[in-house]
Amino acid sequence: MITREEYDVFTSSTRNKRLEWFKDARFGMFIHYGPYSVSGMGEWAMYTQNMDVKDYEKLAMQFKPAENCTDLWCQTAKNAGAKYVVMTTRHHDGFSLWNSKTNPYNLYNYTGRDLVKEFVESCRKYGLKIGLYSSLMDWHHPDGWKCATDEEARKRFTKYIEDLNVELLSNYGKIDILWYDMSYPLKTSTLWDSVNRNYKLRQIQPDLLINNRSKMPEDFFTPEESNDPKPDDPGGYFEACMTFNKISWGYINEEQAKKFNYTSQQIVRMLTICAKKGGNFLLNIGPRPDGTLPDDDKREIERVGEWLKKNGSAIYGDSVRNPDVQACGNCVTIGSSTKDGKSAYLYNLIWPNNGEIVIGGYINQPSKITCISDGREIKFRKENHRFVMYDLPTKPIDDVLGITVFKLEFDEPIKCCPASHYPHMREGIPFQE
Ligand code: GLC
Repeated sequence: MITREEYDVFTSSTRNKRLEWFKDARFGMFIHYGPYSVSGMGEWAMYTQNMDVKDYEKLAMQFKPAENCTDLWCQTAKNAGAKYVVMTTRHHDGFSLWNSKTNPYNLYNYTGRDLVKEFVESCRKYGLKIGLYSSLMDWHHPDGWKCATDEEARKRFTKYIEDLNVELLSNYGKIDILWYDMSYPLKTSTLWDSVNRNYKLRQIQPDLLINNRSKMPEDFFTPEESNDPKPDDPGGYFEACMTFNKISWGYINEEQAKKFNYTSQQIVRMLTICAKKGGNFLLNIGPRPDGTLPDDDKREIERVGEWLKKNGSAIYGDSVRNPDVQACGNCVTIGSSTKDGKSAYLYNLIWPNNGEIVIGGYINQPSKITCISDGREIKFRKENHRFVMYDLPTKPIDDVLGITVFKLEFDEPIKCCPASHYPHMREGIPFQE
């Protein structure tokens, strides 16, 4: 037993070190896969359709992942430039995808397959960090709801949750992230026994990162379907998780879903915003019932990877991001800045037709501008309150997605002024903060 205070001291003393790789990684892939994939109605199908446990079990019997599907996911994640993958090991439907001794309702007992084992092996093969998603809520376990009103059921259920996670973190070597979800129906970390459980899990995996969904803030918070954390968000490091279509995490009819899908350009924009704010982006794909990936999702995400190959230095690496320094861009070019405050990245979205990009809002001026995909130097001239990049080609320099990234280097830390003060700048009135 450990008190909450002792636990907080214990976890916070190693947090920065544990978070290092995660902050550098910036981009991860989320996989929602389970019997619900067979239904094609999303991972909440059992609940939204108010299905009987017995009926849902029939769906589980039809769930037969193709050989090597975890390899396909990891290969795609690698090509996409993601640095880690988080897989649903057991979603709210309560079906474990591994050979569990705690939960007989599992894939191994149905098919002889242990998908967690296959997944961790695939991640290692492709050099990806490993995240295991683990639901707290459970629609299959007899105490899953009862735990809210019956103390004995609560004790049994929290012990069950602990045993499941102990299995996950003991039997598959080093695991990098435990991604909890849905702390329902219990209302506090005490009722969930989160301090004791998480403490125990950290003894098994000392470098483990844990997200904020066990009613404890832990290592990072997880805004959902939003890459724009608001000031009232809990603070600390963030990882924005996103569906591919704003509809579902689990598989849905891909022909119909594709008109709602994000394009590679939209994905890069979201990634850019997360990187700029100093956070990670976790993009979800819901594999088909057989575990293969919808072609459209795969194509778009792999194009992101092609872009990252050339432009990744503007995204990866916490050492180069600085959410506190404003970097300025105009409406066709958005900006982010580096930790030393002396460089900015401008991501051009709409290419000019006159060979010039004009940027206002910087009080000081860059000394050098390069295009990061090919390193070419860009000519620019200073014009008092703005600068003009000129002699640009007629088409975007970036030939992958048409999102060209410029790096602006300054001799001194960047000084920007808010757009509302542009007229002051124009008129030469000194800027006052
Ligand atoms: C929500 C949903 C769940 C999904 C998760 C991902 O909590 O209940 O289906 O797995 O978000 O963030």
